[in-house]
Amino acid sequence: MNACLRDLATTGDYDQTEQWALLDRAPTTCHQHHRRFSLTPAISTVHSPSKPRHHPPPSWPLLPPPPPPPPPPRKGYFPKRNEVLELTCEGLAFKGKGVCKVDGSTFVLLCDGALPGERLLARVRRIRRGAFAEAAKLRTLEPHLDAVDAPCPLAADCGGCKTQSLAYDAQIRHKYLQVRELLVNFGKFDPRKLESSEPDAILKPIVPCDEIFRYRNKMEFSFGTKRWMQREWKEEKDDEVVKEEKTGGDVYSLGLHAPGFFDKVLHVEKCLLQSEPADKVLAIVQETWLDPALGLTPYDVHKHVGFLKHLMIRTGRNVNTGTPEVMVNFVTSCYKPELLEPLVNKITKIPEVVSIMNNVNTSVGNTSVGEEEYTLYGKPTITEMLRGLTFQISANSFFQTNTKQADVLYKLIGESAGLKGDGSETILDLFCGTGTIGLTLARRAKHVYGYEVVPEAIADAKKNAKLNSINNATFVQGDLNKINETFGKEFPKPDIIISDPNRPGMHMKLIKWLLEVKAPRIVYVSCNPATCARDLDYLCHGVEDKDLKGCYELKTVIPVDMFPHTPHIECICVLELC
Ligand SMILES: C[S@@+](CC[C@H](N)C(=O)[O-])C[C@H]1O[C@@H](n2cnc3c(N)ncnc32)[C@H](O)[C@@H]1O
Repeated sequence: MNACLRDLATTGDYDQTEQWALLDRAPTTCHQHHRRFSLTPAISTVHSPSKPRHHPPPSWPLLPPPPPPPPPPRKGYFPKRNEVLELTCEGLAFKGKGVCKVDGSTFVLLCDGALPGERLLARVRRIRRGAFAEAAKLRTLEPHLDAVDAPCPLAADCGGCKTQSLAYDAQIRHKYLQVRELLVNFGKFDPRKLESSEPDAILKPIVPCDEIFRYRNKMEFSFGTKRWMQREWKEEKDDEVVKEEKTGGDVYSLGLHAPGFFDKVLHVEKCLLQSEPADKVLAIVQETWLDPALGLTPYDVHKHVGFLKHLMIRTGRNVNTGTPEVMVNFVTSCYKPELLEPLVNKITKIPEVVSIMNNVNTSVGNTSVGEEEYTLYGKPTITEMLRGLTFQISANSFFQTNTKQADVLYKLIGESAGLKGDGSETILDLFCGTGTIGLTLARRAKHVYGYEVVPEAIADAKKNAKLNSINNATFVQGDLNKINETFGKEFPKPDIIISDPNRPGMHMKLIKWLLEVKAPRIVYVSCNPATCARDLDYLCHGVEDKDLKGCYELKTVIPVDMFPHTPHIECICVLELC
């Protein structure tokens, strides 16, 4: 592998999963960026294949016995496309793919659905630049060590809850390990300082979720013309087809997109991630919409005909009573409220439903944001509370999807900001979205300045400030990837900078500006530990080829699990000016 991993992370040439998996094949010195620490193995082995196992042998009543696996390849071996291999999964990469190897080989094969400790049969699908391969799981040979029964019968097919059959303790242990390895390998932080037994250890224990089901306040289901029933991996195929889909033919469906398919929809009757009232809504829509007498048709993404596109269900809270309030949003290809009336009449019988909206989206794209929005029942917004503040949520506004854990996250961000509380400090809230972080801190600050690229989010942030009678917050729309020398002239030097970028992390222009402005403290909130580790490295160790000197010390990193059963990891990192 020739390219520097850090460049790959910046350019997005490889996705993060691939970059991470590549690390244990990477040269130990990057000539451009001079690694300070030798690379530790990127994947922490959680199971030695030679250890005895205590699981009963699996049974596959519906499948013929698997063919004997080929003899294990030796070290230095390189897989061939379509080869069937016996693999051991050693860890999880960032998007939840299993990091697998054949016994005695160091070659990495990424395999969707493989869980740490599992032995499996897989077919090699793609060799990526000769550096690693992607493999499709055929079947489990021996289950993983922390196996639990997935409560959702669709967990294996849906793609939303990739790790539901992994005990929650193991899920968060692997998330923690991913953060640690990325901080060492991408961030070049000394593993001894990250994890020492002293109280000043940088990497803190991962904060788990108290509620690991029913935690999502928003789910978006799609209507489709092709129902996805199940998928089955084929073993004995001499052609290039390794995957067969068993569809129910052109049967209408309402549910979640089958992983990797924009036109096939897995029929979902209930979802254990959404609230119980939201499940009631889904059940009523499911038992009603297929009645031929109603003349409701799903939108066909190939022919661009049909009416129903998406069903979005959001759950908030009445700020006075604390009881759930539900918004249902039908996204349709045109405005025909009379067609939705039978559904509306039934849904309104659910007491928690306070709002039914209709977003009309005439475009051929897959988005759920309509060009026009109509209120079919009740009010156009619902409310939610976060850190004692009230937020009004419309069908299309952004809001943290796990309210309870967002409260925990924001509390930790507040503590990490280390405000004196005397109202003397200026906070800069970069990538502020609808202003939630800045607003939760505003009461203890002199002034909050928020920056965000989406104009609607800025409008919501201003509304939220007003709703909570916060007068010391200014929200500005702007693209933080395109800042120039005028950036920073319109606000005083910040005492604390909060930066919460989305997955690609911060642009080099912003890194450069941060290194120039030298705020005493930065709280970096990240939903992608790979780009987070890269940006922390830049801020602490500098960027040699841009002639930028790092001037921050990494004080703490707190991983927070916001989304159990998914590969997502949030981190709160505190940097102090050296
Ligand atoms: C992870 S969200 C954080 C939102 C907010 N801090 C919160 O906690 O709800 C990242 C935000 O960055 C915004 N964003 C993405 N790229 C941006 C850019 N180039 N300039 C400014 N904002 C951007 C997105 O629209 C999104 O609102």
